[in-house]
Amino acid sequence: MVDGLRPWGAALSGPVDAAMRTVPRHVFVPGVSLERAYGPDPVVTHRDGEGVPVSSASAPGTVAGMLEKLDVRPGQRVLEIGAGTGYNAALLAQLVGPTGSVTTIEYDEAVASAARAALSGLGVAVTVVHGDGMLGAPGQPTFDRIVVTAGAWDIPRAWWQQLAEDGRLVVPLRILGLTRTVVFERAGAVLRSRSVMEDGFMPMRGVGAVREQNISVGPGPDLVVRLDDERAVDASALQDALDHPAAVCWTGVAVAWGWTEHLDFWLATLEGFCRLLVSRAAVDDGRLMTPKGPWGSMGLVEGGTLAYLTTRPGPTEDAAMPTYEIGACGYGPRGADLAARLAERVRDWDRDGGQGVQLWIEAHPGSAGRPEVSGVLLAVDKRDSRVLVLVAEQAAAAV
Ligand SMILES: C[S@@+](CC[C@H](N)C(=O)[O-])C[C@H]1O[C@@H](n2cnc3c(N)ncnc32)[C@H](O)[C@@H]1O
Repeated sequence: MVDGLRPWGAALSGPVDAAMRTVPRHVFVPGVSLERAYGPDPVVTHRDGEGVPVSSASAPGTVAGMLEKLDVRPGQRVLEIGAGTGYNAALLAQLVGPTGSVTTIEYDEAVASAARAALSGLGVAVTVVHGDGMLGAPGQPTFDRIVVTAGAWDIPRAWWQQLAEDGRLVVPLRILGLTRTVVFERAGAVLRSRSVMEDGFMPMRGVGAVREQNISVGPGPDLVVRLDDERAVDASALQDALDHPAAVCWTGVAVAWGWTEHLDFWLATLEGFCRLLVSRAAVDDGRLMTPKGPWGSMGLVEGGTLAYLTTRPGPTEDAAMPTYEIGACGYGPRGADLAARLAERVRDWDRDGGQGVQLWIEAHPGSAGRPEVSGVLLAVDKRDSRVLVLVAEQAAAAV
């Protein structure tokens, strides 16, 4: 399993490689074949009453990538939020060694008991706490490292209070519906990112759970509007929108494979930003234009109008590296207007660095109000924190 793991493009370091070769993953996922236990995919271990997965052993590549970014040293105190199977906690225990300590918090009692049993069966010293990780580990001193293995909508006060002065926090953070695994380092009251990677995670349960809103539009459904907040959307007005022909606006921005790193954050600055899940059937029978991604695209909704990104083949010099031009298509009375707004943000992204652009994310405690920070692309207020997304070069110049 470990051979050839190159999480986020980088080879494993010695300590993480050794830990992954030492801890037997199959012990933490009983009842599945050795092939699956040591395969590249996540293994779902628990589902809720409706069959939705609520706990899993994350994909080994994701686990390894997060551990590398966490940069755990022998003797450190580590807190994990989301014990799941206990596998990652066992790896953390290897990394901190006998002089360090690992505490892991699990929301689901049955999951916590199974993790505790697997860890003690192997003789691994980890404290498994059944509780809500958003509240931290009450009564414990600060931690050098905090790693969160479920998708968080906010950075709660408890994590700030329990992260040591020079500590590191690795967390999959949802920002307006966009999840990025952010590696934060603490700089006084501020958490500043060292890296920002795209990855998917199960959402956090408990007090920090913020459900996304899904609104079906049309039969099938042809289209689902997914919102990160409670905004009201007029689904019946949108139904009429789909009867209009598409208004298309091409951007002149062509990229290899249609890959547009971090573009979504530029789109997220627009009013009405949302995710649009577009059904294959509606595309195949010509009712809707092909969305930019296999599942749909980020886009906009405003009254009875919607718009999303699409692509068409672009100028290609190297057949092995085809390019696609990004465009926007709008449906409804103001389709051309919304498509033009999306297209303009794509051009802005391209001007700001396009494919090579690097983001920087800062989190400020909510109590800090609205700190003055230059070069901010996007500012989002959460319950306990204010999250700022900045373009890395502009942010570095401003510090
Ligand atoms: C992807 S799994 C974790 C994988 C795990 N680290 C492993 O090595 O197997 C996510 C876990 O987070 C847990 N979880 C979700 N919300 C939580 C919360 N508020 N506090 C603690 N655990 C939570 C889920 O029950 C689930 O077990």
